[in-house]
Amino acid sequence: MSRVVFRGAHLVDGAGDHGVHDLYVNGGVVEGVDLGGEVDREVETAGALLTPAFLDLHTHLRDPGQEQKEDLSSGLAAAAAGGFGTVVSMANTDPVVDEPGLVTDLVRRAARLGQARLRPAAALSRGLAGDRLTDFAALQAAGAVMITDDGIPVADSHLMRRACEYAAELGLVIQTHSEEPSLRAGGVMHEGAVSRRLGLPGNPDAAEALMIFRDGELARLTGARVHIAHVSSKRGMQVAEQLKADGAPITIEVTPHHLTLTDEALASFDPLYKVAPPLRTADDVAYLRDAVRRGVVDNIGTDHAPHTRAEKERDLLSAPFGIANLEVTFPLLYTELVLTGELGLPTLLHLLQDGPARVMGWEPPRLVPGAPADLTLLDLEAELPVEGRSFRSKAKWTPWEGERLRGWPRVTMVGGVLAFERGALAPA
Ligand code: DOR
Repeated sequence: MSRVVFRGAHLVDGAGDHGVHDLYVNGGVVEGVDLGGEVDREVETAGALLTPAFLDLHTHLRDPGQEQKEDLSSGLAAAAAGGFGTVVSMANTDPVVDEPGLVTDLVRRAARLGQARLRPAAALSRGLAGDRLTDFAALQAAGAVMITDDGIPVADSHLMRRACEYAAELGLVIQTHSEEPSLRAGGVMHEGAVSRRLGLPGNPDAAEALMIFRDGELARLTGARVHIAHVSSKRGMQVAEQLKADGAPITIEVTPHHLTLTDEALASFDPLYKVAPPLRTADDVAYLRDAVRRGVVDNIGTDHAPHTRAEKERDLLSAPFGIANLEVTFPLLYTELVLTGELGLPTLLHLLQDGPARVMGWEPPRLVPGAPADLTLLDLEAELPVEGRSFRSKAKWTPWEGERLRGWPRVTMVGGVLAFERGALAPA
């Protein structure tokens, strides 16, 4: 494996700002700074920010079985292009990842790609049917790091309780999709003034708040580590933070789209904005942002959810839920939250690095000798428009098309291998 130097990079990790140095990578790990000597590759950084590659605990890679939407190769390349070095893939594939052999197969195929690392989640219930638990111990032994039926709420509270007890014994994280299904019903967007104006079936914030309460109570009852995914509403966040304050062992995730878009976007009737849980009101967005600032939120997970163009061009009632966002997450949040002065850069980095690592019980990523060389080089200066057609993801469309953003990942290295280089994208 080759020796690489990042020349004159501004080094920042969760331990702080280490100033400008030459960082050397050798044998897949960080070797040290300012060492000198022969290298196989020199990356000129011109003072750009070099920081641990991001971790996404919530990615839909659609592999196996739905490769028309995404596959391991395109999805993990998209992750690297977004500055992510590790992703946790969701289990709502076809077949569902509910057997150890499927986990092993994913891990083996992903390792060959030289893209972002894959740490798969496995399903909580067989076939995501919500009635029989999977074999958590066997799935964990095969490499699953999380248990979740994400995409489908676990309606049966007794099954969820048993899942929490089983996961607690094994030290596994359970991730929830907290929406009360009978209340969410056929809602295609947030229930409120906009859904009434448009005459579209709504999904109320109460559906989220109710289920977060149930899931948090089960975490408290069983001691399981329960990760509340994609909290989208003020009510949902208030319930989650109260449970956390009461000592429930829960962690809280928000997504890039719930932090930046509102239900007004649905006035276009464009299924591009159809996502579960739904985009909420400006008041909800402000509350989520405030929760992030107050340190209540543990991580930003993308919930990257690619679908085919044909599916997303159906009418709003029948199109599938999901926004594909791996490649814009950092520039979007850097531009809309950090450059506007709403959030400090260290906090944003924390939510993509140490925050998710802590949720999972993993080592916080550091730029120290011997640490895996999972790095991203961020260009905080160049302003580039979002161009869906240049995405590595198969989903080449985005709610942020044409928006001019700063904070683009220029290079992503995973285990000492250059998984992504922006080279082809010159500033517009
Ligand atoms: O919008 C969503 N799409 N939310 C989910 O929870 C699932 C996801 C998908 O799998 O498409």
